[in-house]
Amino acid sequence: MAKDSKRTVLVTGGAGFIGSHTLVELINAGFEVVAVDNFSNSDDTCLKGVEQIVGRKIPFENIDCCDYEAMEKLFQSYEFDSVIHFAAFKAVGESVEMPLKYYRNNITSFLNVLELMQKYNRSNIVFSSSATVYGETDVLPVTEQTPRMPAISSYGNTKQICEDILRDTVASSKIRGIALRYFNPIGAHPSALIGELPRGVPNNLVPFITQTASGVRECLSVFGNDYPTPDGSCIRDYIDVVDLAKAHVSAISRMVEDKNKQNYEIFNVGTGKGTSVLELVSMFEKVNNLKLNYKIAPRRQGDVVAIYADTTLANVELGWKAERSLEDTLASAWKWEQYIRSKK
Ligand code: UFG
Repeated sequence: MAKDSKRTVLVTGGAGFIGSHTLVELINAGFEVVAVDNFSNSDDTCLKGVEQIVGRKIPFENIDCCDYEAMEKLFQSYEFDSVIHFAAFKAVGESVEMPLKYYRNNITSFLNVLELMQKYNRSNIVFSSSATVYGETDVLPVTEQTPRMPAISSYGNTKQICEDILRDTVASSKIRGIALRYFNPIGAHPSALIGELPRGVPNNLVPFITQTASGVRECLSVFGNDYPTPDGSCIRDYIDVVDLAKAHVSAISRMVEDKNKQNYEIFNVGTGKGTSVLELVSMFEKVNNLKLNYKIAPRRQGDVVAIYADTTLANVELGWKAERSLEDTLASAWKWEQYIRSKK
């Protein structure tokens, strides 16, 4: 394989929210990239945004990672030694209604990527995992050693299964892998040229907040104010998407530079700080100097009361730390929402 292939990364799901931010950070760190996406939950807005930010074209293929033949052609055509696998369905509620859609897509695509990595001797993979693998844990903060509880949704189960597939594959091959367990990714690039683009009614809190502020949605429902937390609303660890993207660069660099201590490693990616829904709403209002129309609504089924990360391992081993303040992140989310609305 050519020398440069060691610093070339295939990014699946590269047109998506976290994928697009990671393309930017990889390029900033001197990596070459190849992106694939089938636009099943995105369009080319963020890819174009990435190209504007970095000032050059991104090698891109419109491919469904479940299509083995198309993926094989990609592996034959491009020289990359590392993969970051984002491509997956991610709507928790939908996964409960359509489990087979989630199992087929999220697991088939991952199997294809790993089988092809093995066949074509590619070395390193970062898998996009999630704090959802901890299920309904009452250990706070959660460390990577906190036992995984049974998944609450089929989506969550696909993340657990894919982690196990990666662990077993690494144990029996030359492939090295890192699973990054994301907490709640939010925000947008400071340029406001890339950000989150949910289709239809957003499931997640911050896109719902920004769409309510811009008048696309009438009113935000805060799901529950009777939880056993200081203000009664749920607590999460909101991680800035640019910080999260940088964690991927650290993870890839660790393997490329042979600094990994084990061939399969897991890291939590969060801030280590819990923020309640009501705190987040009032911070959003304050930093962006606006009033949000919201009401208290019944609890949402399947929500855990509180979860936030112990990030010591990522801090020490990856040399990575969340840097952007929640205020700046919420300001960037609002700036992105305004940019997107101005384009429509
Ligand atoms: N919430 C509201 N109103 C809304 C949307 C959300 O009050 O309109 C609340 C939720 O009840 C929850 C918090 O905001 O308390 C965060 O909810 P999100 O839907 O934004 O995020 P979740 O914590 O439910 O889910 C996220 C990711 C999942 C991942 C999970 C792991 O979206 O992919 O974290 O914990 F599986």
